[in-house]
Amino acid sequence: MNIEQNKPLKNLNTFGIASVAKYYVAVDSEDKIKELLNDPVFKNSKRIILGGGSNVLFTKDFDGLVVHVLNKGKTVKEDGELIYVNAKAGEIWTDFVEYCVENNYCGVENLVDIPGTVGATPIQNVGAYGVETKDVFHELEAINIQTREIEKFTLTECKFGYRDSIFKNELKDKYIITSVTYKLASKPKLNTSYGDIQKKLEERVKDKNYSIKDVYEIVSEIRGEKLPDPKDLGNAGSFFKNPIVSRDVLASLQQKYPEIPSFDVDDQSVKIPAAWFLDNAGWKGKKTGNVGSYEKQPIIIVNFGNAAGDEIFAFSEEIINDIKEKYGVQLEREVNVY
Ligand code: EPU
Repeated sequence: MNIEQNKPLKNLNTFGIASVAKYYVAVDSEDKIKELLNDPVFKNSKRIILGGGSNVLFTKDFDGLVVHVLNKGKTVKEDGELIYVNAKAGEIWTDFVEYCVENNYCGVENLVDIPGTVGATPIQNVGAYGVETKDVFHELEAINIQTREIEKFTLTECKFGYRDSIFKNELKDKYIITSVTYKLASKPKLNTSYGDIQKKLEERVKDKNYSIKDVYEIVSEIRGEKLPDPKDLGNAGSFFKNPIVSRDVLASLQQKYPEIPSFDVDDQSVKIPAAWFLDNAGWKGKKTGNVGSYEKQPIIIVNFGNAAGDEIFAFSEEIINDIKEKYGVQLEREVNVY
């Protein structure tokens, strides 16, 4: 195996943090992954399985092995109006979305321009603009690190939740996802309820005959206006999850902040946008040194220059403490911190 030593990670994470990994290996096939599992470096090291590096924050050098999953390929099976598209874990997610839109496979168009790879999407049930991975997920294949066998996981077995799955909990670090099969539709069933999508569609498409491509283009436009491109400004998308609180907590916050937005989760709980807390508390657009909260979407923490990972972490800690103190609500990081 071609295991590199002292590998710079700056170009392998969208925050652009200049950490160094003790070991690094790129794997582009299931066979290579299986071979790697037998390697003493793999067996004896802490590991990070890396896809697009778009949801990680390195706060120091990594004293272990970074496994960069780069296997590629797609296969399609049609079954009446259902289209099952299998994509290897190392496919770039937004290229995959583009491919589906070009072929008129409906389901993932709302997820355009999300950085990262296919293999990462089920881990945190990636979602945006009214669609989550679980809504289009059929099954996935993953290599069991202990047994070296490939296993399949169905929708229910993945235990998807809000930015959550079994792979962040009981199976954390036990599997390497090698491919994901999405269940798409040949007849468009568009999801246009989130934010301004519907309004923009009506403005643009006068005959109301909306296509998959229209939604794709509009979501891409909305994202472009609100979210910084990591190529220009280092970031890892939403840094915090939207906190889920009880209805009692919401009611007491509403006494003081009648305008506070919330979204139903279940009978007992609601989700409140972390962005609202940051905005209300004055964090939006605030900058300390090379780190700041993005002016157009405060839950995105931005690396304005050569910020160190621990500087970004400290900034996020300050925010968490401040929100806890002001509102009694505990924010959690969505980004994986190493
Ligand atoms: N808001 C404010 N001030 C702001 C911005 C937003 O108060 O400056 C409030 C508004 O009430 C707004 C609400 O926050 O309605 C939600 O904002 P937005 O629609 O921009 O989305 P979000 O909840 O902050 C989530 C995901 C994003 C995803 C968008 C769009 C999480 C943690 N984040 O953000 O996902 O793109 O919705 O669907 O769930 C990511 O996970 O990396 C990510 C970018």
